[in-house]
Amino acid sequence: MTLQGKHILVGISGGIAAYKIPELIRLLQKEGAEVRVTTTENALQFVTELTLRTLTGALVYSDVFAAVNQHATEHISLPDWADLMVIAPATANILGKMAHGIADDALTTTFAAMLKPVVIAPAMNDKMYINPATQDAMHLLSSQQHITMLDCATGYLACGSEGKGRMQEIDVIAEAVISALTPKTLLGKKVMITSGPTQEKLDPVRFISNFSTGKQGRALAKEAARRGAEVTLISGSMSAQEMYETCMQTFPQMDIAILAAAVADFTPEEVAPEKIKKQPGQTEMILRLRKTPDIAASLGKIKRQDQTLIGFALETENEEFNALRKLEQKNLDMIVLNSLKDKGAGFGYDTNKVTFLTRDGHKKSLPLMSKEETASEIINCLS
Ligand code: C5P
Repeated sequence: MTLQGKHILVGISGGIAAYKIPELIRLLQKEGAEVRVTTTENALQFVTELTLRTLTGALVYSDVFAAVNQHATEHISLPDWADLMVIAPATANILGKMAHGIADDALTTTFAAMLKPVVIAPAMNDKMYINPATQDAMHLLSSQQHITMLDCATGYLACGSEGKGRMQEIDVIAEAVISALTPKTLLGKKVMITSGPTQEKLDPVRFISNFSTGKQGRALAKEAARRGAEVTLISGSMSAQEMYETCMQTFPQMDIAILAAAVADFTPEEVAPEKIKKQPGQTEMILRLRKTPDIAASLGKIKRQDQTLIGFALETENEEFNALRKLEQKNLDMIVLNSLKDKGAGFGYDTNKVTFLTRDGHKKSLPLMSKEETASEIINCLS
């Protein structure tokens, strides 16, 4: 729950993409946020006040003069209440107004008083998007420090044509909200993360692999990016040898490397050029494997004083002893130990239960938590 305890104000203007905003509200609430809504009058042509009020459990601020809603000074109190305002969709009209300080309705008056983080997700017809007036407004707004301006996406437009003008998908908008509220503790840092299983080829159609899903590594990459790091994620269908070569090339440019990949220890000695066929009567097949390079240990050897190297250890017995030995042997600064003994931890689960062991002798055991939260705890150790 990355938005736990946060107050998010959603501003909706009158574009067809407004029909997606109830889903955005849900997404923000699932992350723990309390959400309130302000709209333009036109927005309520696309999404009903009842829908928004039911979802948020709060009055929708859309009419500056509606005494019945006791909204008299909402344009001031809402920015005070909110930690962040997200305006989606932002029409060409509302962008123009916001860029030039025009405040003539509930949404724009609230925006004008909002000096905390703002995320804007524009949406319009492709011709309105390329109109210099719209482009100027977007540039003016994005030059303000507290504003994150998302660009429009390209694709199918409600008017029936294809082009640039779509609102970004709601998960992209939610991510921008989370990112805007995350302290930039890794700003300027270059972070490399290995993730997922390796694939050791047997022939053109088969490989040996493992059950790793790459969830923990992806969560780490996401969290590092949210903290402002420049992230290189090394993952995908590659062999241990290929991952080794990529890592050895990349690591010298990095400040930090986190090795969350489940790298194969052995690989077939030969890759058959054609599909291996079973022979009539054949009842067994013997594969000869050879050792792969240990990426962590190799990086440990070339690691500089100014670099940090973090590894993972998945152990089934003598867990701490084995993890500490790996920390030592691979010259890591920290090792994240996860045990398969813990229910809900490890391969395929969304949760993990880990213990941090550091080179300088510190130990921290965490309770069972989501892989996102685990990622956040690991990244906390870096700042
Ligand atoms: O497989 P092992 O338990 O030794 O893995 C511990 C750490 O070493 C992990 O961080 C893993 O990503 C890394 N590793 C590696 N290259 C290998 C094997 C493991 O980088 N060939």
